Amino acid sequence: MAIPERNLALELVRGTEAAAMAAGRWMGRGDKNEADGAAVTAMRYMLNTIAMDGTVVIGEGEKDEAPMLFNGERLGSGVSPEVDIAVDPIDGTRLTAMGLPGAISVVALSEKGTMYDPRNIFYMNKLATGPDAAGVIDIEAPIEENIKRVAKKKAKSVGDVTVVVLDRPRHDEIKSRIRQIGARIKLIPDGDVAGALLTCKEEGGADLLVGIGGSPEAVITACAIKCLGGNMQCKLWVRDEKEAEESRAMGLDLDAVLTLDDLVKGDNVFFAATGVTDGDFLKGVRYEGRRIRTFSMVMRSKSGTVRYVEAIHHPKKLCTISGIDYAPEYEANHQ
Ligand code: FBP
Repeated sequence: MAIPERNLALELVRGTEAAAMAAGRWMGRGDKNEADGAAVTAMRYMLNTIAMDGTVVIGEGEKDEAPMLFNGERLGSGVSPEVDIAVDPIDGTRLTAMGLPGAISVVALSEKGTMYDPRNIFYMNKLATGPDAAGVIDIEAPIEENIKRVAKKKAKSVGDVTVVVLDRPRHDEIKSRIRQIGARIKLIPDGDVAGALLTCKEEGGADLLVGIGGSPEAVITACAIKCLGGNMQCKLWVRDEKEAEESRAMGLDLDAVLTLDDLVKGDNVFFAATGVTDGDFLKGVRYEGRRIRTFSMVMRSKSGTVRYVEAIHHPKKLCTISGIDYAPEYEANHQ
């Protein structure tokens, strides 16, 4: 089987840019599904132009019946290499619809058969950190212990440690424990891929991400963390006994700790993300009349290269190539 030798991340970024430009038009308009639908269409179009034989292992949408790049969907021109694809055209659809910061478009790719498939288990409990404290985290240890270890490893005090937590009632207990030990909390309304990656980014302002979030987002985050050299551990998390029974029937082990290597095997992982709305991780899309500006991050684990790409797009020209209209109102008013 041919393995991906080209840096496919440089091609993936065209997909996240397209999705971000299409979705960004819906910022603040209050319509999640329109934003997601625009991102999905643009992302699918661009990913299908890449010379690869890709299968979506981690798609998204079933959870809230949003438009989706579905699991099992084939993407690319159909020629080798054969690859697994994890895609989230918008991580933060609600953020986009509400005009809030932190929404990004993401896609990751790895050799065929290397991505963990959480089937229909929607959530995982997650613990993530950047390269400086990669060796010390343990999802089976109490949060207090993890905070202390990270503080020690990073030569800071517990009070200096910032923990990213999704703002959900299910996290009330963990939040009060983090507060009690004296660490800081960065509460995010949505978007735990970008939240986790802040722990890996220089000057990201965060040391740990902890808590329960989407399983697809966990695998995507693991791909990015593989490229950045941090660490992540997860456990499947079920909402009720019915889901627990279903997962056992599928042979899934709810007690197993999923390491970074379980989430994505090997060292040939590609990742691209583009900001949709402004955030701490990436700036959002700028519509500048005749041009659109995007901000992206592009990485490959094998080389360890991290690229930040600021791109200037010409929507009119793009429309003639792809048929996707990224600037409908501008063109209508400036004939
Ligand atoms: P989508 O925008 O892709 O729906 O995901 C947003 C998100 O906040 C993820 O970042 C996170 O992992 C998940 O939703 C948490 O799920 P829930 O909102 O059900 O708690």
